[in-house]
Amino acid sequence: MSDRKPRVLATRLFPPAVQARLQANFDAVLNPDDVVYDADRLAQAIAGCEGLMCAAGDPVNAAAIARFPDSLRIIATFSVGYEHVDVAAATKRGIVVTNTPDVLTDATADVTLLCLLGAARRAQEGIDMLRGHRWIGWAPTQLMGTHVTGKRLGILGMGRIGQAVADRARAFGMTIHYSNRKRLSPDEEKGAIFHADPEAMLPHCDFLSLNCPLTAETRKWLNQARIARLPDGAVVVNTARGPVVDDDALIAAVHSGKLASVGLDVFDGEPKLHPGYLDLPNAFLLPHMGSATLETRNAMGFRALDNLEALLLRGETPPHRVV
Ligand code: DGY
Repeated sequence: MSDRKPRVLATRLFPPAVQARLQANFDAVLNPDDVVYDADRLAQAIAGCEGLMCAAGDPVNAAAIARFPDSLRIIATFSVGYEHVDVAAATKRGIVVTNTPDVLTDATADVTLLCLLGAARRAQEGIDMLRGHRWIGWAPTQLMGTHVTGKRLGILGMGRIGQAVADRARAFGMTIHYSNRKRLSPDEEKGAIFHADPEAMLPHCDFLSLNCPLTAETRKWLNQARIARLPDGAVVVNTARGPVVDDDALIAAVHSGKLASVGLDVFDGEPKLHPGYLDLPNAFLLPHMGSATLETRNAMGFRALDNLEALLLRGETPPHRVV
């Protein structure tokens, strides 16, 4: 038996424990400088590889997949979202695609609450005032935000992350409304109010949290017409994918006062973001940090490795295959 290890390209610098296991089990082609690959670099680097470990933002589209070598058998993305991978194009070439579900649920739900509270409580303005040496002391009318206790939170997309957001929001005394392709069982619903039609949910959302995947149906879902259905002074939180919102409409709604604020961890076209967001002093903005804990990033990496090892080392179907 040959002891040749399958060659796997890692497009990004992954956490040390993940890279160590990758190097132990595979002939790993690493990216120590964490350069973001464009299509040409990707096509060059992947020569001779049987596996690809990529991440959110890598351009694994149909054009890139067409340039992959015939040796490539698996694309294991280090993410739960896989809209950056053209699964149909990969499947056509007989390449298996896998993702990393479950392990980033808690971390992402935590950041959703961080965005919700940060936006509601004007955290960005407070931080800016303090760090800009403009704080002259406590004042009865200073930085008054929006109370969350007793308010209604609408969640669009009640999968694992949406449900974990609901659990956390209940602890803040919020009432949960949700819309999802499928109604949850009463055990999962835990009293949350289901809206089969997401548009019908909007008037009930003092806070709206977007936790749906990016699909053709959800692209630019939160547009001007739908924002108009929200109560005046609502807060919108997005930790799903940037393109789920229409940036111009969202920014205009904060400017006009229709929305009190927004809390965003994801952006259309990131790392670039619509410059209008930076002109909103009350917007609470984070650079796509939902899963950014060491524990979570290790778990995501180990899950991606479980998938690579299953197929390339044992010839088994990977546990987290995307179809
Ligand atoms: C994912 O896994 O899809 C995340 O957005 C990366 O944190």
